[in-house]
Amino acid sequence: MTDELNDKLTVAALAARENAYCPFSHFSVGAALLDENFEMHVGCNVENSAYPEGTCAEANAIASMVASGARRIRRIVVAGGHDEIETCTPCGGCRQKIAEFADDETVIVLIDGDGDATEYTVADLLPRSFRLEQ
Ligand code: THU
Repeated sequence: MTDELNDKLTVAALAARENAYCPFSHFSVGAALLDENFEMHVGCNVENSAYPEGTCAEANAIASMVASGARRIRRIVVAGGHDEIETCTPCGGCRQKIAEFADDETVIVLIDGDGDATEYTVADLLPRSFRLEQ
């Protein structure tokens, strides 16, 4: 993964975060992922008056990737926070959703309050993940 691609993903995650619809939590999240064809897909959280109907940024980026025909996540960057960026570790459901389309070694990048990136693998965040053999 080149620094240029990394930076592109970070910029895209931060831009997607600006479009988050989160009138209930006021916690905006943006996610950007690179697929197996080196195409980028973004998502933001989209909340709903019927609270459980809200969707997470990661889930929406994955949905965009799948709808485009791609199936593998090379890398995913997540940026979230109230007004300022706070480290937003993916929720349990999103960890499982990421794992469906990634390997244990796939990198998940979290942007912290200083704008610095910390890298985790899928296995770090979701050890012994559930997978059906295909
Ligand atoms: N959220 C995400 O978009 N991704 C996560 O991994 C954690 C939480 C959203 C859901 C909700 O709109 C807001 O952040 C507060 O939970």
